[in-house]
Amino acid sequence: MRSAGSVVRLLAGVCLASVFWSAGGAARDAQAATVPEVPTPNAAPLSEDEARIQLGRRLFYDADLSDDGSMACASCHEQRHAFADGMPTHPGITDDAGVRNVPSLGNVGALKTLTWLDQHITTLEQQIATPVFGYGPVEMGMPDWATLLHRVSGDACYQKLFARAFKNENGRIDARTVPEALAAFERTLISQNSVWDQAQKKQARLPDDAQRGVALFFGQAHCAACHSGPLLTDQSFHSINAAHPARVRTPSLRNVGVTAPYLHDG
Ligand code: HEC
Ligand code: HEC
Repeated sequence: MRSAGSVVRLLAGVCLASVFWSAGGAARDAQAATVPEVPTPNAAPLSEDEARIQLGRRLFYDADLSDDGSMACASCHEQRHAFADGMPTHPGITDDAGVRNVPSLGNVGALKTLTWLDQHITTLEQQIATPVFGYGPVEMGMPDWATLLHRVSGDACYQKLFARAFKNENGRIDARTVPEALAAFERTLISQNSVWDQAQKKQARLPDDAQRGVALFFGQAHCAACHSGPLLTDQSFHSINAAHPARVRTPSLRNVGVTAPYLHDG
């Protein structure tokens, strides 16, 4: 991320500032007397797109998006697992057992359809309603948009962040801007430049065993018939298991080393 550190510090500053102000003049003066101004070298003003991404990141990690405040998107989509998790399935806030394995969100912005089996969810903005409001299974268990928007709008920090991220909308917090911010963040989850990518550009050399794997994968084993292209998926639906006749979207195999357990049912 471009100067992510300084952007995060800037935003943290915005939100902390509102806490100090509401704490009253004395606290502010004490603050001013003891803590020197921290210079932020090269801090360019935040563009609206960057502000939207940073807002989306905050929403992604915010458990307030779940009914009882216990579960964020990131509870199931963990960065260290390429935004998947290490479990076969992940129960929601009511301990309703999960049904499908949590997929990685790496390069999710490049996918034409979303989720393992559904062919009708085609945008990230549209997908968000499933974890937040869905009940088959219950994941974040929110009853409706009104409840969620009431909660987010009541937070002074979010009011500031939406105002920066949605200038034309006058910082409106609604059923369009919340998904747009989350989706803007999700589209930054790009995974590229692995050793395999570098080897294709002749910038690195794969170890011998990996070279044998590549030869098999793209040759005799015909894996690339489905796991094709830069994302290693044809994004098509196949039935590969006689015991499970439903057609499943070929998963990308990027970061596959950290996304176990595998397959749509974990
Ligand atoms: C309780 C765990 C859980 C939570 C919380 C959760 N997800 Fe998911 N997510 C899943 C599972 C399981 C799937 C796969 C669902 C399926 O295929 O039917 C999924 C699928 C997705 C997909 C589709 C990925 C693909 O490869 O098609 C996106 C995008 C996504 N989630 C984003 C989010 C966002 C944004 C949030 C927060 C608003 C969120 N998720 C919260 C478990 C969760
Ligand atoms: C006919 C298309 C097809 C071919 C050929 C194919 N796969 Fe797959 N692969 C799939 C589909 C579809 C799934 C998801 C199945 C499911 O979840 O039930 C999958 C799942 C996987 C997974 C699990 C990934 C995850 O995130 O859960 C791995 C690993 C994998 N394949 C590797 C391979 C390898 C290695 C080969 C060659 C030996 C291969 N595949 C050949 C379509 C294919």
